[in-house]
Amino acid sequence: MTDRITIRRPDDWHVHLRDGAMLALIARHTARQFARAIIMPNLTPPVTTAEAARAYRDRILAALPNDAGFTPLMTCYLTDQADADAIAAAHEEGVFTACKLYPAHATTNSAQGVTDIFALAPVLERMQAIGMPLLIHGEVTDKSIDIFDREAVFIDRILRRLVSDFPALKIVLEHITTAEAAQYVAEAPANVAATITPQHLLINRNAIFDGGIRPHAYCLPVAKRETHRLAVRKAAVSGSPKFFLGTDSAPHVVEAKESSCGCAGIFNAPFALESYLRAFDEDGALQHFEAFTSENGARFYGLPLNEGTVTLERVEIRVPDRIGDDALSVVPFHAGETIGWRMVD
Ligand code: NCD
Ligand code: ZN
Repeated sequence: MTDRITIRRPDDWHVHLRDGAMLALIARHTARQFARAIIMPNLTPPVTTAEAARAYRDRILAALPNDAGFTPLMTCYLTDQADADAIAAAHEEGVFTACKLYPAHATTNSAQGVTDIFALAPVLERMQAIGMPLLIHGEVTDKSIDIFDREAVFIDRILRRLVSDFPALKIVLEHITTAEAAQYVAEAPANVAATITPQHLLINRNAIFDGGIRPHAYCLPVAKRETHRLAVRKAAVSGSPKFFLGTDSAPHVVEAKESSCGCAGIFNAPFALESYLRAFDEDGALQHFEAFTSENGARFYGLPLNEGTVTLERVEIRVPDRIGDDALSVVPFHAGETIGWRMVD
């Protein structure tokens, strides 16, 4: 039995670091485990300009110790007004690594998202030409579509057409949750990839209703039935270069989760690598762990692999019930449980 594993320093290809006091509380958890992260732009107001992205990047760095060795990779929140020239200039300048597509009203702070992605063809054409990735929250928002079917319907109605209209556009289908998504991405051309969260490897939708309503197991896309969890997990541990780590760590203060209308989002940053490692270990796939955490994403984005390593050891440590204090606290994924691994500092 392997009790210690050392991997190249990993990256998180999808994280919500928030702003203000929440940023100050949580950023260090991501910076502790990851060398770089793709920072989601769904602030209020969303990050739609190079100027806003530069300022946000500075706030992220200011929230971390000087020696954190962490690089935030900023993204542009697409709206119906997105401008190809402005986006391309900010990409050229190194401010925007990628663009994020939130279908309007699909999730937290997506009200200013895109109402018709095909109307943004000039933007997508330019992104395709300059090799700038499009990161997609892949759910339709049609109220007549069951919430558990929104990802699969998005693939059929939107993604297939996007891939055929923009065949060289780099696309990341974010936080996949279904067998349909795993299969679609596995069979798609090499410029289509997917991120996978720890929660979608470890829980199915029963976790949201386990003896009562469990708001801390609720995120979007919502966890699906067990067959889907198994399909997503098989894709993650398969060694395929198309699947890589993206935590979608999305903290909300405890009061916003434990409410009559609880926010979507799971805060998994403090033990993210441990969660993933548990899944790879249980599936006897430790040989593919490093590619998933530290290689596939960087190669897809065309960025160098990180220097340095992190080590995890097999140890039973209890995940705290809360991160933070009375003024501001967040319940982490696995609160009160043990995961079986811990990253060594
Ligand atoms: C995210 C958030 O809270 O910003 N929530 C979530 O459930 N994942 C938004 C998102 O990525 O959908
Ligand atoms: Zn997200």
